[in-house]
Amino acid sequence: MAVRIAVLPGDGIGPEIVREAVKVLDVLNSHFGLDATWEEAAIGGAGYDAAGDPYPAATQQLAHASDAVLLGAVGGPKWEALDKPLRPEAGLLRIRADLGLFANYRPTKVHSQLLDASTLKPEVIDGVDILVVRELVSGIYFGQPRAIDMVNGERRGYNTMVYTESEIRRIGRTAFEAARLRSNRVCSVEKANVLEVSELWRKVMIELHQAEYSDVELSHMYVDNAAMQLIRNPRQFDVIVTGNLFGDILSDEASMLTGSIGMLPSASIGEKFAMYEPIHGSAPDIAGQDKANPLATILSVAMMLRFSLGRDDLAVKVEQAVEHTLDAGVRTGDLCFGGEKPVSCSAMGDAVCRAL
Ligand code: NAI
Ligand code: MG
Repeated sequence: MAVRIAVLPGDGIGPEIVREAVKVLDVLNSHFGLDATWEEAAIGGAGYDAAGDPYPAATQQLAHASDAVLLGAVGGPKWEALDKPLRPEAGLLRIRADLGLFANYRPTKVHSQLLDASTLKPEVIDGVDILVVRELVSGIYFGQPRAIDMVNGERRGYNTMVYTESEIRRIGRTAFEAARLRSNRVCSVEKANVLEVSELWRKVMIELHQAEYSDVELSHMYVDNAAMQLIRNPRQFDVIVTGNLFGDILSDEASMLTGSIGMLPSASIGEKFAMYEPIHGSAPDIAGQDKANPLATILSVAMMLRFSLGRDDLAVKVEQAVEHTLDAGVRTGDLCFGGEKPVSCSAMGDAVCRAL
């Protein structure tokens, strides 16, 4: 039976990078027996422009009726002045919450061909292979109350960082299970020395570890130290589990170990649904110029094949095709540090398809 994919290109470079990922799906269909169909729908600023809503009802219906969602990126200066609920980013938060995508897997792997593309020393980053497991539908991005109001004649802004025990246990389980398939180490990152929400996070992680996962090595780290350790000695990490805000920041930081944020895919998984997207945004500074690196999106397709479509064999093929393309020295601009000649976004996609 054919698998159905909802394709949501979004804004900025979103349509450009998604186009290349769809080319890869086309090759998998025509040459490797993938039986996939896909349909496009609008999200983010494109959703607002088309339907007055950054997460239109038609998009929601399509996502619910699909086996997996492939998303580009949302946002851009065009929509910055809108009220917050109408902004592109609100659409992204809503689809994550609506689909119950509580676990965001962000693998950060240094490709040996790109050792010189990072600003860090090759001997520090060689062999880095970290999985950031970020909680995605709670924490300070969703907590209530939140507002900008007036107090004592001045403006005040606030958000609430809140985690319930069951939310912590759910993401903790995800991380421990992932670690069992890797090198069996979990580092839980929070700020338990200052925040009550983190104090609970640490307690629940310890309880869960003792009750169900004592075979996995668990360590704890404050987020400020974790930010430092990621740069000082990134190879110490295997699985990092953390909340929504800390995970957002640490995974962008970790992307710099790999040379470019344009390399990093992600999978967001819930009980019923799953969505795949690069970790970067809509990159308005290079949008519309056919310059973006599509590899993060193509590697997100590999994660989709593995986790949602039951085609680990094809996931491996896509990952090998990306390695082969990097081996051949094909680089988009974000990966060029030594005076190499950059190729376009579409040429990078074509190169991966040829390698496949
Ligand atoms: P960004 O990730 O879009 O860009 C940061 C820098 O990385 C830029 O210099 C950009 O050119 C570069 N970059 C990003 N992806 C690239 C790629 N594939 N190839 C080459 N270079 C790449 O983050 P920024 O600038 O903070 O945000 C831009 C917009 O994207 C904002 O509206 C923001 O809200 C939105 N955003 C959306 C996300 C999503 O859709 N998941 C995530 C992060 C930001
Ligand atoms: Mg981010």
